[in-house]
Formats: sequence, structure tokens, C-alpha cells
Amino acid sequence: AKPEALKIMISGAPASGKGTQCELITKKYGLVHIAAGDLLRAEVSAGSENGKRAKEYMEKGKLVPNEIVVMMVKDRLLQHDSQENGWLLDGYPRSSSQATALEGFGFRPDLFILLEVPEEILVERVVGRRLDPVTGRIYHLKYSPPETEEIAARLTQRFDDTEEKVKLRLRTHHQNVEAVLSMYEDIMIKVDGNVSKEDVFAQIDGALTMLLEIKKATTGSV
Ligand code: AP5
Repeated sequence: AKPEALKIMISGAPASGKGTQCELITKKYGLVHIAAGDLLRAEVSAGSENGKRAKEYMEKGKLVPNEIVVMMVKDRLLQHDSQENGWLLDGYPRSSSQATALEGFGFRPDLFILLEVPEEILVERVVGRRLDPVTGRIYHLKYSPPETEEIAARLTQRFDDTEEKVKLRLRTHHQNVEAVLSMYEDIMIKVDGNVSKEDVFAQIDGALTMLLEIKKATTGSV
């Protein structure tokens, strides 16, 4: 692996902007984006046994059982590109048992980013979210509208992006978040997620630039 390959975790409530920031981070830093929710949705689309089981939990806004999620994330982290270029783990771990499992496999991040957004903003973000199935990009009808008519016409919505379901996801988030945060307190930065996506990224970018400088200095590479 490159000595300066970064290992980053990003966390925050549903619709706090994790996926949006991951697009910006990977573009600049070339990290491999590993999103637990995306891996699960791929299983659901493929119609696999795991996908069928996962969907039952996702529709209720509950955590998918560890026996499905843990190995899926571990296998992705072990792939060559993640090891070589560094990784950006999004939406994992979501419980202390997931965090412990990851530690057990020897994965410890350099930095844990927590996006903070007031709860009343989150529902509006979810309901207006749209996805481009061609590019994978995340849009919002009001805050990040599609650039062209052509893109607008093909946008899709996630099956769990309703007001009712995001409230269930929020409840699950509140039940689990403290246990996860307590395991990463020493490497955590809190980021104000209630500003424009560019301004959120500026805060993250500053922290990552500093981290890279430190890594380069300690590994001796320039
Ligand atoms: P997952 O897919 O991870 O969903 P989530 O945590 O609910 O988060 P979201 O993807 O909804 O939001 P985001 O923070 O990425 O926000 P985004 O950038 O899109 O998980 C889904 C389900 O899978 C879970 O409920 C669970 O069942 C299961 N699961 C996942 N991980 C698991 C695990 N580890 N263990 C067990 N089960 C697991 O932004 C949202 C919207 O806001 C967009 O429209 C965007 O354009 C807009 N927006 C973003 N930033 C801004 C900004 N600064 N200003 C204005 N608008 C903005």
C-alpha cells in the first residue's frame, strides 16, 4: 500500500450528507468509497438470498443483521484497490458489535468524521433526494438539482426515502450512535453539516490535508 493511503470513516444521521461528501472526497483524494448501504442495495437489486433478507430490515429502517453486513464490508476492505489507495467507509460501523468486529480484523481508521445536522432538516433532505442510476450521483430537487433535462428525466428515488421510513431510520440511529462514537472519540472530528455542500467539504478537506501532511512526515515520503 502507498504509505500515505488514508483510512477514513464517515458517520452521521440519515441524510446528513455522507454520500454527498464521499463523492467530493473520493474525487480529490482517490480513496475507495465503501458504503454499507450501497453494498446492501446492490444485493437487493441482485435478488440474492442476503438481499432478500436485508430488504426486510431496510424497509423497517432497522439495522441489517451482522452476519450479512460484517463480512460484506470486510471483504470489500480487503480488496486490493482499498488496501492500495486507502478507504472511505460510509455507514459502517453502526453498532458497537460492528466496530468491535472491524477492530478484530485489524481495521482502525486514521480519522472518524461526524456530520452534524439538526433533525428537522433531515426529513426534507430525504424526501427531496433523487439518484442518477447512470452516474450514481446524488441530487436534491431543491438543494442540488440536476444539471440537464435529460438527467432530470431519468432520476430515481430510493425505496426507503419516505418521511415515515426516515423517521424509523432516525430512531435506529439514535439507539446506536453513542456506542459507536465512544469507540472513536480520540480520532473524531465534528463537522457542521448544515451549510452548503461546498462549505461542508471545506471543513473535511482541511482536516484531510492536515492528516496527509502528518502521515507523510511520519512515513518519510514526500
Ligand atoms: P444508508 O444507505 O447508509 O442510509 P442512511 O444512513 O439513512 O443515509 P443516507 O444514504 O440516507 O444519507 P446520506 O448521509 O448519505 O445523505 P446524502 O449525501 O444522500 O443505509 C440504508 C439502510 O441500510 C439502513 O437503514 C439499514 O437498514 C441498512 N444499513 C446500512 N448500513 C448498515 C450497517 N452498517 N449495519 C446494518 N444495516 C445497515 O444526502 C441526502 C440529501 O441531502 C441528498 O438529496 C443531497 O443532495 C442533500 N444534501 C446533502 N448535503 C447537503 C447540504 N450540505 N445542503 C443541502 N442539501 C444537502
